[in-house]
This record gives sequence, structure tokens and C-alpha cells, in this order.
Amino acid sequence: MRSLIDIQELSIQEIDELIARANDIIAHPEAYREKCRYKKLATLFFEPSTRTRLSFEAAMYELGGQVLGFSEAQSSSAAKGESVSDTVRVVSGYADIIAMRHPKEGAPLVASRAATVPVINAGDGGHLHPTQTLTDLLTISREKGRLDHLTIGVCGDLKFGRTVHSLIAAMARYEGVKFALISPAELKLPSYIKKEILQQKGIEYVQTTDLAAVMPTLDILYMTRVQRERFFNEEDYLRLKDSYILTPDKLQNARADLSILHPLPRVNEIATAIDDDPRACYFKQALYGKYIRMALILKLLEVE
Ligand code: NCD
Repeated sequence: MRSLIDIQELSIQEIDELIARANDIIAHPEAYREKCRYKKLATLFFEPSTRTRLSFEAAMYELGGQVLGFSEAQSSSAAKGESVSDTVRVVSGYADIIAMRHPKEGAPLVASRAATVPVINAGDGGHLHPTQTLTDLLTISREKGRLDHLTIGVCGDLKFGRTVHSLIAAMARYEGVKFALISPAELKLPSYIKKEILQQKGIEYVQTTDLAAVMPTLDILYMTRVQRERFFNEEDYLRLKDSYILTPDKLQNARADLSILHPLPRVNEIATAIDDDPRACYFKQALYGKYIRMALILKLLEVE
């Protein structure tokens, strides 16, 4: 029985297989309609979500399975003081696989040790978000036809943005990948990620506050929201929230084949005027999230 807590638990070959499976599902959805008949997915969401939870649920329904769960901590026994371990031990008897989101870093890992069914980390605090990264990798591979030799700009809240942490960990394993880390000084990428991933692997990166300066070099621009819920005070949030707003004029010196990604939800970081630009991929990306989660559920449930 296997869980997915950190994207680095998957080998490159396994990621390739998941992407191939997701592409096959996109091409032949009817072949998958009964694959998870009589299987149940529990979505235990202790923190708000739209895409992640609904795409997991849609994924399980499209595989012919069923879904149970809760979408806020207040409606679960956590509100009575139950531990995560007890909750998942109980839910292991009700479902075949669990997707869990939690505001505390490490909670899904703790859950995976108590569960007797696979646990998928659907986002833990400001730490990791491996299924968003699988979504991002599927999107990049479909847009670019490869995952190697790419220059990736990640822009916005690199400190608290868990999607960025998992994306960097995943992309750093492909040959010829370079990063531009674009953020306000207060929201820089945590130094443990720079040390343990970028420097350790000798990966080329620049750290800057200036999006315009690096724009012409980018193959991928990954925009992120400033993570309001992780701030200690509202003043800092208000000062930093509009640090980067992507508008059409800022794309003037961008490459014609740039791909613009965003895990969503968007607040202000991308002007809606960009939505119709052929380089905007974020709504497609949200759709791909459903297919890659279907592929992941099949893998963890060991369905052929
Ligand atoms: C992201 C998250 O929850 O970390 N959303 C998502 O899962 N698509 C990004 C965010 O909330 O900013």
C-alpha cells in the first residue's frame, strides 16, 4: 500500500507513466468509466479548496467510484478535538483511498502512518502540494512536449506557496532546467529549498524582484497568489498582495511560445485581459488536474 505525501516519492519513470496514463484518459475517457466501481474515495479537507477537492471528486466519479468526506474542519470531529490519526484510522474502514488537505505542515504524513489505505497529500499548510505539481507537469508536457531544458519563472509568494515548493522539487530532476525566482524580498523561496534542492543539484537559478528583467528568458511563467491565510498580520498582506500583476503590456517582451500557468485561485496576479491570450494555460491546467488525479487514483489503488 502506497501513499503520496511528497512529489519526490515518485520516480521520473513513474511520473512519465502517470502523464501517459492521463493522456490516454483524455483520449479515451470511456475506457475508464468502470475502473473504480465499488471503490470509495474519502476527501478530508480541513482547509478551503475548490479545484483540488472537486477535481478529486470528479476524478473518482469518472472512474465509476464513489466519494464521501467533508470540506471544512468545523463539520468534522476535529472540531471536537479528535486527532488526525484517529480520524484516518476510522475513515480507513469507510473508504479505499483518502485525499487530505490540512493547514498543518506534516499532517498528511502523520495520517499516512495511521491509515490502512493510501493517503494523498492534497496540500499541507505552506509546505507541499504534490497533486498540483502532477497537474503542472501534465500541463507543461502537453504544452511544451517535454519536461527538460526549460527555463521556469516562478513569481509571487515563493515563501508560503506550497505549489511552488513541490514544483521546484519535481522540475529540478530534469536535465537543463533553470529557474528564475521572482518575489518581493519578504516572500523569497525558503532557504532550505534553495540549499537542499537547487544548490545541492547544482541547478542554475536567479533570484530577483524584477519580473520584466527575466521575462524574455522564460519558457514557463508560473504565477502565484500571495497566501493571505499564512500571514501573521493583515498589514503585511495588504502591502505585498499586489506586488506582481501580469497585464498585457508586461508580456510585450515575452517569448511568443511562453506558457503562463497559475494553480488558481487567482486574486489579482493576472489581469483578466490575458485570459484570451494563447499563452494563458491556467484554465486548461485546472481541467488537466482531474485527469492526472484519475491516473494517480488508479496507480495507488493498483487498478490495471
Ligand atoms: C493552491 C493551493 O491550495 O495551494 N490551490 C490549488 O490547490 N489549486 C494555490 C493557492 O491556494 O494559492
